Amino acid sequence: MPSPPKRSDSSLRSTSSSSSSSPSQTNASTRLTQIRNHTMGSASTDTPPTLFDANVVPQAPEDPLFGLMAAYRKDPFEKKVDLGIGAYRDNNAKPWVLPVVKKADEILRNDPNLNHEYLPIAGLPEFTSAAQKLILGGDSPAIQEGRACSLQTISGTGAVHLGGLFLSKFLPKPTPAIYLSSPTWANHNQIFTNVQLPIKSYPYFSAKTKMLDCDGLLSTLKSAPERSIILLHACAHNPTGVDPTPDQWKQIAEIMRERKLFPFFDCAYQGFASGDLAQDNFSIRYFVEQGFELVIAQSFAKNFGLYGERAGAFHFVAAPGANAQDVAKRVSSQLAILQRSEISNPPAYGARIASLILNDPQLFKEWEHDLRTMSGRIIEMRKSLKAELDRLGTPGTWDHITSQIGMFSFTGISEKQVLAIREKWHVYMTKNGRISMAGLNTGNVHYFAEALDDVVRHVQ
Ligand SMILES: Cc1ncc(COP(=O)(O)O)c(C=O)c1O
Repeated sequence: MPSPPKRSDSSLRSTSSSSSSSPSQTNASTRLTQIRNHTMGSASTDTPPTLFDANVVPQAPEDPLFGLMAAYRKDPFEKKVDLGIGAYRDNNAKPWVLPVVKKADEILRNDPNLNHEYLPIAGLPEFTSAAQKLILGGDSPAIQEGRACSLQTISGTGAVHLGGLFLSKFLPKPTPAIYLSSPTWANHNQIFTNVQLPIKSYPYFSAKTKMLDCDGLLSTLKSAPERSIILLHACAHNPTGVDPTPDQWKQIAEIMRERKLFPFFDCAYQGFASGDLAQDNFSIRYFVEQGFELVIAQSFAKNFGLYGERAGAFHFVAAPGANAQDVAKRVSSQLAILQRSEISNPPAYGARIASLILNDPQLFKEWEHDLRTMSGRIIEMRKSLKAELDRLGTPGTWDHITSQIGMFSFTGISEKQVLAIREKWHVYMTKNGRISMAGLNTGNVHYFAEALDDVVRHVQ
């Protein structure tokens, strides 16, 4: 196969915003400011008055993932490959509107009673109750005993934020730390920092085995101070694609109970990992069954493909006991106050679509079929990539490609190799070596395997 052309544009090293001006534009605008100041009699020609000079508001770096997406869009190379974005793509590398979502959208748009009124503060009731059943299981004791409460949020990010805000405000002081897996979804750090929760981390990924560092994880939990918050990815861990087995979840739960640690589940991929909704939520359902008091952030971005519609939910589950309903009721009332002050009430359209599907047995079945289509294609791509690497005899072991699960795979390649694969092969992935399996298809998996093989062999 011919080598791809070497690129010369400087966007490789920096994915900085394209809005920065050229030197001649900057000179012209400085000159204009000087003339304006001169004609308006300003005392100073180069320091316009502001409360926000660079010591106070320094220039923030661009979000690395969104910067990567922009660099990919700008790249004119025909065979470029986008493995950065955490969104499902079909076998033609195109966004996929789930057939069941198209159907629900059609029903909604033809509904003569549809209007654009505000939703209640806690969101669309038929959406939140269906979301609760989906995440906890329809026969969950927490639902039957009325000790779970749920609010609709701005997708999973909004749910993580609302949960962080609630814990930061109401947990007894000094506020305990929240432990995040190392590594984790980058936004966790920003969100919890913003709500002033102290952040700590627990080992998660073993670079050596490319699997779960279960011993490291358990020993950190054993030494965490009582009442610390432990953020757990319910399934399809982002960025590693490595999940604990059911037995490992049981060990985690046992230590967390012993140490009185508080579980905060982030569930962004239910049904997307294995294609089976209940299997993907084993962890949450097990913890609830074990009687934990806990919170859950739930996203419908990936499993419904409703990324931009921002449909999600936040759930609080009280531990079983005589006062459990009362606890849930009080928590729910305070969550409503927080929600009101931040977004007033959540957006309606995505929640209406999800609600239609979740509450209609026939549409629900079709959704499960669509979930299997997405997870099945990703599993196939894992197998194809592994087979291509085996065929090429790429140095190293690549079993983790097929043993990891969900949208992402942690390849284990270095930052230098990531930059090289972008420069030489126009393959875009995050600096930590994470690839979105959804970006692979039958048309590019061979090309990507060749690229990976090349950098593994030639870039140290
Ligand atoms: C672990 C994790 N949590 C939460 C989210 C939130 O996603 P969204 O706000 O789009 O629902 C994501 C998205 O990538 C994620 O990977």
